[in-house]
Amino acid sequence: MNGGEHSQGTVAGPTLQLAGSEPTLFDRIGEEALRRVLWQFYARVMDDPDLAPVFRRRIGPFPGAGWPLHIARLEGFWRAVTHGPSAYRGQPGPAHQGLGICSAQFDRWLALWEETLQGQLPPAEAGDLLQLARRMRVTLERFALAPAPQGTGRPANLRRSGLVARSFASL
Ligand code: HEM
Repeated sequence: MNGGEHSQGTVAGPTLQLAGSEPTLFDRIGEEALRRVLWQFYARVMDDPDLAPVFRRRIGPFPGAGWPLHIARLEGFWRAVTHGPSAYRGQPGPAHQGLGICSAQFDRWLALWEETLQGQLPPAEAGDLLQLARRMRVTLERFALAPAPQGTGRPANLRRSGLVARSFASL
């Protein structure tokens, strides 16, 4: 009969989920909310006397200088670890070497992350993003605290760890 005309009436929008597939954490949070979380988080970081100097030295005065690029890079990272579309190909571990970061600064970073998430996202998504950061902290802190042997710029035991973000999140 003439069913073809009607069967084409279903519009496949960008948020359509395939039958049976679970939405990813990225789907649940949404692109705009993720971006908002990141800008708000780094605004808090840059108000913090213990964290701000590290970022100011590396990225410049917030929110100008290198910040738009840095946030775009972080957005790529968080999109990857929440299983969203991402072109991020960085190495978060080595990026934290030689910055002079200590454990107390990781504690503070996570406390601000938690505060931001709780203010911006529903409890389930806030909890999932907090959990991801707490897990990644273990590896990042190992890189941040390890002394880099001369000439290599990287700690010997971590030199070959070319971690991509997706596998990084499951460590
Ligand atoms: C679990 C906690 C943390 C997570 C998940 C995290 C994540 C990241 C990621 C994904 C990047 C980008 C890496 C790249 O360039 O591809 C980055 C860069 C950076 N992070 Fe963190 N970070 C954490 C803790 C910290 C702490 C505690 C500090 C300092 C007090 C810090 C300072 C920096 C700086 C300065 C950069 C820029 C490095 C550069 O481009 O030269 N991070 N971080």
